[in-house]
Amino acid sequence: MISGQQTPLEHLTWSIRQSSLIKFYEAAIEQYGTLHLKELSFDQVGPHREMTVDGQHLVNFGFDSFLGLDQDPRVKQALARGAEKWGTQFGASRAFASCAVETALEQKIARWMGTEAAMIFPSVTLTNVGALPGLVGPGDVIAVDEYAHNSIHEGTKIAKAAGVRVLPFKHNNPQSLEQVLIDASPYRVAVIAIDGVYSMSGSIAAMPELNAVAKRRNAVLYIDDAHATAVLGAQGRGTVLESLGSYDNTIVVGCFSKACSVFGAFVACTHELQRLLKMRSSTYIFGGPVPPPYLEAISTVIDILITDDYRQLRDQLDQNIHQLVTGLAELNLIVLGGKSPIITVLVGDEELTFQAGKFLYDRGYYVQSVTFPAVPYHAGVLRIQINSNHLPESIAGLLSAMTEMKRHLPLPEANPDRLEELQFGSDRFVTLDT
Ligand SMILES: Cc1ncc(COP(=O)(O)O)c(C=O)c1O
Repeated sequence: MISGQQTPLEHLTWSIRQSSLIKFYEAAIEQYGTLHLKELSFDQVGPHREMTVDGQHLVNFGFDSFLGLDQDPRVKQALARGAEKWGTQFGASRAFASCAVETALEQKIARWMGTEAAMIFPSVTLTNVGALPGLVGPGDVIAVDEYAHNSIHEGTKIAKAAGVRVLPFKHNNPQSLEQVLIDASPYRVAVIAIDGVYSMSGSIAAMPELNAVAKRRNAVLYIDDAHATAVLGAQGRGTVLESLGSYDNTIVVGCFSKACSVFGAFVACTHELQRLLKMRSSTYIFGGPVPPPYLEAISTVIDILITDDYRQLRDQLDQNIHQLVTGLAELNLIVLGGKSPIITVLVGDEELTFQAGKFLYDRGYYVQSVTFPAVPYHAGVLRIQINSNHLPESIAGLLSAMTEMKRHLPLPEANPDRLEELQFGSDRFVTLDT
């Protein structure tokens, strides 16, 4: 009840609490208490993903810094060099000015990716809510994968408010996409918004099939490749060139804050689109830039990606992924992904998902327990993120803790009859990434 004594701020706070998302979170916190593990604060981190939380030593399997570059001395030095040369920030929107390191870096990104041009944004989220709506207008359509990242869905809401028709299609399903586009026609322009790698399941987009539909239906693919940058494709260019052989019907968004372990994002596109997006992307125009120390660090990371050092880091990552996936296969659990460093074990029930995460945590291994609304209700998962600087003995330790966990907790087994029921496919799915 709203009391007559409430100030406007108290009333606002009360009304936020009425949202179903907050009610869900608060019920989960109350019900699952310390099982939840959502507010960990790391006191210390080590070179092989060791960490300390409240005095407890753990190995962290919950980091997107897949190549371990956050600990690389070359990257740390580049940050210091950038701060020395430019100061800590370049205090102007890029709509007015850029520092030279930024324009040079955009050319370097384009050379590395093999596109005509590139455009730096402070994050993939800001790209998806700025550039994606900037591509379309009234009379246009965005067809969006139902499981695309939350920030893509947020971007489509902005586009919708401007009169764009936003039409979801079934996850990674070219037939569904085609039907959506057939039903939507006639349209002026259609953009198909997808992820290259889906961050909750680790699954990879069916790019050639989706692109074939796109070309047949006069549409362009917009790919959020956040989880593929520096991980998949030659020199870490991501999923697109590898699977399509060219960028000719695509706009690619890459990420610097995951495997690259620095900060920022980019759009790889044609010169002309870059020029137009500078005028159409609200977050580019009205927001601040990536700080110059990070621009220097990104440049150093790209230098690493185009040398043999990258091969070594990537081989180490592949070996680690292989070790985990083979071990998990022996446990007969339901494992999604396995081609990228995001490996997901399907648990199902929310409480069981938290219990499983806590069981591993108590034995010194941190993996993320992910539940609704990031995944469908009753399709909770353990999300394991493998990094190249994980030690083989840590992965072996995690696997034996999981073996023990299987004896104590009723985890679903890889039984095809239950898969249907547990797989991500529910229309109750709400996209919300961590
Ligand atoms: C597919 C995808 N896109 C975007 C993001 C957000 O990226 P950023 O942190 O650069 O905003 C994530 C983060 O997990 C993601 O998985």
